[in-house]
Amino acid sequence: MPIDFNAKKNRHAYLGREVQQEWYDLIQKLVEPRDKEVADIGCGGGIYSLAWVKMGAKKVTCVDFSQQMLADTAENTHGMPNIVIQKGDALCTGLPDSCQDIVFERALIHHIAQEKRITCFSEAHRLLRSGGIYILQDRTVQDIQFPGSPEHIRGYIFDVYPHLRNIENQRRPSNDVVINELKFTGFKQIKSISLLEKRTTYKDFSQLAIDLQLRKGRSILHELSNEEITYLINYIEKEIGAKSDIIEKDFWTVWMGIK
Ligand SMILES: C[S@@+](CC[C@H](N)C(=O)[O-])C[C@H]1O[C@@H](n2cnc3c(N)ncnc32)[C@H](O)[C@@H]1O
Repeated sequence: MPIDFNAKKNRHAYLGREVQQEWYDLIQKLVEPRDKEVADIGCGGGIYSLAWVKMGAKKVTCVDFSQQMLADTAENTHGMPNIVIQKGDALCTGLPDSCQDIVFERALIHHIAQEKRITCFSEAHRLLRSGGIYILQDRTVQDIQFPGSPEHIRGYIFDVYPHLRNIENQRRPSNDVVINELKFTGFKQIKSISLLEKRTTYKDFSQLAIDLQLRKGRSILHELSNEEITYLINYIEKEIGAKSDIIEKDFWTVWMGIK
């Protein structure tokens, strides 16, 4: 069952997190954001759109197909003059040709059907000026194989419910497939980089338990019943014990290609 990004219950689903230094460091190694026009497609609550502004982007166009997510972005960006909010589908945004220096898509492509991925990449290519840069961030099939640990909480989900790994495997592409599809679309100088990005720090287990409950509407956990989520939370509590300051991190892959 796909996530309903328009549902009122998913309001603020992608807010309340801070962009971490390791993300800024990697992006600034790949591109010079200063004075650039950036489209953040599948922007969610606009957390990363704001990060582009912070890095000096001249204008950030926040695109999402969900009115609820765009309302969250508007709330999060407080009418900042260099933020433009635009409803649109990643496959056909409605933005003009060659209007962006950078197109950024984080945690978007696993929501795009496999057979539509090249349409998504072609749309990004169309939006970019010549020499413009496409930056994609998502989890590959390799990124989701790491087992559970106090740092890699997501791994416990698949340790406890292996059938969810099968669902994840189907929607996560491999690194090589993405590289080949980017080449096929016409991108040049393609690179892929692994990123271990901090998600957040929980003061103690009870904070993590609340977060896991809240993830039901917006992650693979929406496949589980409330009872199954409770079982998972109890399992993780036994594994982690009474640890304080739990730092959760996620494995990601970041791709870059030039038009
Ligand atoms: C997992 S969230 C990521 C949000 C944000 N990029 C982040 O990393 O915090 C995925 C977002 O992509 C949006 N989305 C999914 N499919 C889309 C599509 N075909 N076109 C535009 N937005 C889409 C959803 O509404 C949601 O806001």
